[in-house]
Amino acid sequence: MRPPPPKLMPVPPEVVTLGDYERAAQQRLDDRIWAYLQGGAGDEITLSANLAAWQALSLWPRVLRNLAGGHTRSTLLGREMAHPILLAPVAFQQLAHADGELATVHAAAAQGAGMVVSTQASMPLEVLADAVRADPFRGPLWFQLYLQYDRDFNLDLVRRAQLAGYEALVVTVDAPSSGVRDRERRSGFKMPPHVHAANLAGLPPRAPLSLAMGQSPVFDGLLTHAPNWADIEWLVAASPLPVLLKGIMHPEDAQQALRSGAAGVVVSNHGGRTLDTVVSTAAVLPGIARAVAGQVPVLVDGGVRRGTDVLKALALGADAVLVGRPVVHALATAGAQGVAHVIRLLRDELEIAMALTGCATLADITPEVLFNPPAGLEAHKGVQ
Ligand code: FNR
Ligand code: LAC
Repeated sequence: MRPPPPKLMPVPPEVVTLGDYERAAQQRLDDRIWAYLQGGAGDEITLSANLAAWQALSLWPRVLRNLAGGHTRSTLLGREMAHPILLAPVAFQQLAHADGELATVHAAAAQGAGMVVSTQASMPLEVLADAVRADPFRGPLWFQLYLQYDRDFNLDLVRRAQLAGYEALVVTVDAPSSGVRDRERRSGFKMPPHVHAANLAGLPPRAPLSLAMGQSPVFDGLLTHAPNWADIEWLVAASPLPVLLKGIMHPEDAQQALRSGAAGVVVSNHGGRTLDTVVSTAAVLPGIARAVAGQVPVLVDGGVRRGTDVLKALALGADAVLVGRPVVHALATAGAQGVAHVIRLLRDELEIAMALTGCATLADITPEVLFNPPAGLEAHKGVQ
């Protein structure tokens, strides 16, 4: 039996930006759940830096160009996309709304946005893919994989994702240990009993950690099972689906990703949730785009809240962007309608930003739309 479609929730009339959704969601959600969804690691320096880095870039408009017939289409891994906005993997979406990931996947499909379903989704990956697979206008469906210590279990997840119709795997490599999220710890957040990692049911329990005196719970515990480059190569060989790596922040890791057979990289610091004071994604994006040199797609996330942020990300070399927290803000405020609205708002803002900077297509979005491009990306300043 198919699950019922998500319930409709009206979008409050005063909500017209992603920032408005953030404020509306905070009012609606329990403080502890808010602390989990919104919080970052440590003092949240990276969380703020991601947002500030986009804001610090100034646009440099060109006028009176003929932009009629322009569009936001592109292709990503051989797939036509109506626009370059995807939904990042966000765990446990039933914390934000009872319809959880099912609402999100419907909204993404309705708006032609790609969606990356988390390993830690609160609903089964098959239920989510079944809901939208037949929609001819939906964007790509990808499955985010946290490699588990049990190889057979990983293979089973990959097989399930492929059978269900997922088109790529996104392996998150920046979180071998979960971050120390102080806001969440202070709040006393505990996962409510009705929310669980639906796709990890059946993962055999790991033997309890028994550390000898002087051993480290990090190096002798957690990291004894953490994935490494050899595991990525193993997965690329074993997986029928292309494998992207999410959490790449260094050009040399991007090059290693290419050598390991990755089909794409996602420049990400996990929205500032893993290690605090890590550099912003906008700051490292140009160097990674240069290192990858167009061989595979480069995506970026972290603090993208405005169409102008999307434009700037593309100007710095990204092929597409992902948004994380805005998804749960929208879910909490207005369910599936909210998520669809968030995607539409970002896309509309991107189109306006393209129009007002003189870009008819995504290919026209070059460093020249930036007044202060980072070093190494100098636009031609002044009259030639
Ligand atoms: C995440 N993120 C994440 N990433 C991932 O690879 N797997 C996951 O399960 C999750 N879960 C998750 C939960 C919550 C509540 C948040 C806020 C984030 C990180 C996510 O994919 C993305 O990298 C960031 O959220 C991007 O930053 P913004 O858009 O939230 O600023
Ligand atoms: C998080 C994990 C689930 O960021 O990736 O909460």
